[in-house]
Amino acid sequence: KKIAVIRGGRSAEREISLKTGKAILDALNRQGYHTIDIDPAKDLHKRLYQEEIDIAFIALHGRFGEDGTIQGLLELEGIPYTGSGVLASALAMDKIMSKRIFNNLDIDTPKFAVLKANEIEDKLEEIEQDLIDDLGLPIVVKPALEGSSLGLSIVKSQDGLIEAIKEALKYDRELLVEEFIPGKEITIGLLGNESPQVLPIIEIRPKEGVYDFKSKYTKGMTDFIIPAELEDKVYRNAESLALKAYQALKCRGMGRVDLRVNSAGEAYVLEVNTIPGMTETSLLPQAAEVVGIDFDQLVVKILENALE
Ligand code: DAL
Ligand code: MG
Repeated sequence: KKIAVIRGGRSAEREISLKTGKAILDALNRQGYHTIDIDPAKDLHKRLYQEEIDIAFIALHGRFGEDGTIQGLLELEGIPYTGSGVLASALAMDKIMSKRIFNNLDIDTPKFAVLKANEIEDKLEEIEQDLIDDLGLPIVVKPALEGSSLGLSIVKSQDGLIEAIKEALKYDRELLVEEFIPGKEITIGLLGNESPQVLPIIEIRPKEGVYDFKSKYTKGMTDFIIPAELEDKVYRNAESLALKAYQALKCRGMGRVDLRVNSAGEAYVLEVNTIPGMTETSLLPQAAEVVGIDFDQLVVKILENALE
């Protein structure tokens, strides 16, 4: 079978995707699969038509890859692909749409407000106070469609809010402003389709500040505790929330749900990543390793999920 690993692309997370894709290519090649390497920023269409591809392994992060667009193209071409379909990919990429669904299904998620660039232009000072009254401080500002914490700020005092909004607007015209949940950051990998396996919970402890782009991708800046140190009841509740969030968005193949847990043990879903980082030291592979699924096996499992 010929497997096309699609990596790179045009999103702000291009560099991460190249690494994810390289790790996947290496794993497939090690196991004797016939692979080809495709970068949508270069020659996607030509290659899709010329090469007879049996299955596409989508290793793209962010827009034009994790968001349903490539998935739609592959659907039209009748090429099976890994991970979530068009709808789930598009929903999970949009943090605001995801949260609307979570709220609708009673899946706990931090309180939030939506800001649209065209509606807030001259009114930043006015809305600033309202946001803080509603959501408190610290307050989190994120672009609706972005990954790897790009454009994200956690604002501790009113002074920084307008600047944070302007920073996030560089990435997207629609922003999510969210209540900050003090406590622990955890993430939960899932593998499978309708009834996925829930992997052990990873607790993320950045050595300084927050788990942002820098601490995500600089070796040694973050400690990971697997399984997370949580009371039994809290642990099980977080697992159940992650599973509900994955199923609510109709995810398939694999995914990783990010959550925060406050000191009372209440967990809140932040978002679902349908194509989580997959370098050998990324979070999903680390969690899989703990239950005896090594990186090579993980890659094959994801491929098999695509053909189910
Ligand atoms: N968006 C990055 C790649 C992740 O969630 O792992
Ligand atoms: Mg993300």
